[in-house]
Parts: sequence; structure tokens; C-alpha cells
Amino acid sequence: MGIYLDNAATTAQKPAVVAEAMTEILTGEYGNPSRGAHGYSLAGYRVAESARNQVKQLFKADRRYEVAFTNNATVALNEVLKGLIQTGDHIITTSWEHNSVLRPLYQLEAQGASFDVVASEAVTGRLNYQEFTEKIRPETKAVICNHASNVTGNLLDLEWVKDFCEAHELYLIIDASQTAGVVPIDLSDGKIAAVCFTGHKSLYGPQGTGGVCVRKDLSLEPVITGGDGMQSFSKVQPKELPTLLEAGTLNIPGLAGLAASIQWLREKEARPALGEYFYQELQKIDGLTIYGDFNLPRVDVFSMNIKDAESAIVSDLLWEEFQIATRPGYHCAPLMHEALGTADRGTVRLSFSSFTTKAEVDTVLAALQNLALR
Ligand SMILES: Cc1ncc(COP(=O)(O)O)c(C=O)c1O
Repeated sequence: MGIYLDNAATTAQKPAVVAEAMTEILTGEYGNPSRGAHGYSLAGYRVAESARNQVKQLFKADRRYEVAFTNNATVALNEVLKGLIQTGDHIITTSWEHNSVLRPLYQLEAQGASFDVVASEAVTGRLNYQEFTEKIRPETKAVICNHASNVTGNLLDLEWVKDFCEAHELYLIIDASQTAGVVPIDLSDGKIAAVCFTGHKSLYGPQGTGGVCVRKDLSLEPVITGGDGMQSFSKVQPKELPTLLEAGTLNIPGLAGLAASIQWLREKEARPALGEYFYQELQKIDGLTIYGDFNLPRVDVFSMNIKDAESAIVSDLLWEEFQIATRPGYHCAPLMHEALGTADRGTVRLSFSSFTTKAEVDTVLAALQNLALR
């Protein structure tokens, strides 16, 4: 169809094992996990447990952690934030956050909690880490941070934030939507309270999958309540994980696909670093503004503008004339655009995956050069 460079929204190309694993569920006879003692239900249960184990291995999560599955990172972030934060609590977050963090925080604020935002610099988007300390209050309970900006691709200094949270006894919640599967996340030191992830981006699983790997000592109120198949006479959601966060039937075909994609990721060879090559070549094109800090670690997500053109127009031209799929606009991260100075026109975002080839990158560079000359 063309060249797909909107992988930060979802990876459109998946490893073949994903469809194979999902087909096996849909053509086999898999029942509803924990909804019966018969073989069909047990078969469904085993699929979910296998996916849980894949996630635990990916994040090096030991017995202190449990994995709960949701539809996506958005639901996981809502469950953790709204389950943890109560009236009077204070949270520190950053200007890198996606609306799946910001909107729950605005809702919590309306209910009597409060939050402060660590600012970032124009054009580079670099976070001012000193502000984490300045924002602390006696009632600060948690820090929630995006592990990699979905606008600039820059990585959070996770070790710094982990030590900061440990020193100040704050719960650390990480939004790993852009990093799970592509940047190692190691929970073995126990310093992260919860990692929220989505299955359909850099984990290469199907849409409609995601979840949270959560430390069991985190006391969460259930946000979504309903059937768990076990304690039917209880008026409240069971407190045990993962049931606390998994009311309703799980997406077993999706989880089979997710388990297969994580296993594939864990076994596959490292891919050539196309991002560095792309950036070097981009700098040779006059008229581009490229946002982000290219001296700091990053994932292959690039935001740019061409001269003073609207990002939507550039993205449309890339699709209509060159069949290159990119994403214009604000990428659900309004505070980042205010910081970058792009709140008026957004940015054109190009994001790579394991399936992106050097030949595709060269075609994209030629297309950008073509547009920049107009
Ligand atoms: C940084 C970040 N957080 C959260 C999300 C939400 O992911 P999902 O739509 O899968 O819930 C996204 C997706 O765009 C994202 O980039």
C-alpha cells in the first residue's frame, strides 16, 4: 500500500506468529478463563497465564509483581491513577504526558486531588529534572512519567526518577506505551510501582490488548467492577490481583497474539539502527525543524515541520503524492506542544518499527527533500 511510518500510533505490520496464535484460538475451542472447571475454560486460562508470564519475563518482574490485562494503556493508566489517588493527594507528572495520563489527572483534580507538571524546554523538549524536587509537597503520593515522549522520541532518565522516588518514598508509575518491547524495562530492583503498557505498538501485538505490571503492595481501589467468575456473592470486587483490575471477560485471542509477539521480540535479533542514519540525513535538508534532543537516548520517533507549513498539509502530501503514512497534529500530548512551541500547527511525526527498511527510509528522505524545495 505504501510506506508505513505511523508505528507510534500502532504497528500495522505484525510478525506472522501473531495471526497464527490468534487463529489457533478462534478456530480451536477456548472457553472463558476462570468461568468453569471444564477443559475449555482451562484452555482459555492457560492462554492468559502464558501471556502474563511473557510480560513478567519481558519486564524481569519477580514475585512482588502481578500482571493485569486491560484493553490498552489508557485503561491501565486510568485504573492505576484513579485506583491509587484519593482526595487530598498530590502527584508530580511531566509535560511529556499523553492525554491518557493528563485527562485522568484533570478528573482527579476536579475530585480534590492536585498535581504539578515538570516543564520541558522549547525545541529539545528536555525535562527540567530539578523541578521534580521543587514540586514535592508533604501530600505528594506518586510520580507518573512517560518513559519516552510520543512526540520527540526522547527517553526519560528512568534511573534518576527511580532514585528520586525511592529517596522521597513516592510511588513511581511509568507509561511505557512507546517503549515496552523496544527499550529494556527492568523491575528487578522493585523501585517502580506500576508499568502501564499497550500491546499494539512496539510490542507488536493486536489492538485491544495492554495492561499493567503492578507491585502487589500498591493499594488500589477497583475502578471497573463486575464479574470475576469466582466470588459471585461478594458485593465488592475481589482485592486480589489480577482480578482487582480484570472485571469482565479477557480478550483471549488478543492475549494469545500478544504472548506470541512478546516471545518473538525476546528471541529476535537486534535490528540495524536506522534512526541515527535518518537523523544524520535529515540534517542535510534545508527548511526542516526537527524537535527533540538528539544528544540523549531515544526511540525512533521523529517530529518535524517543513518551513512554515501546517503539519496536516505536509502529512497529506506525503500520503497523497508519495504513499508515505505519517501522523500530523498534536499526538494527544498538548503540554509537549506548548513546550516545543508547536501548539499552533502541531508536528509531522514519523515513527519506525522493526519492519522499516533502509530503502524505505531513503524514499522518505527523498520525499521530504522534494517537499522542502517547494
Ligand atoms: C505515550 C503514550 N501513552 C499512552 C498512549 C495510549 O495508548 P492506547 O491508545 O493504546 O491506550 C499512547 C498512544 O498513543 C502513547 O503514545
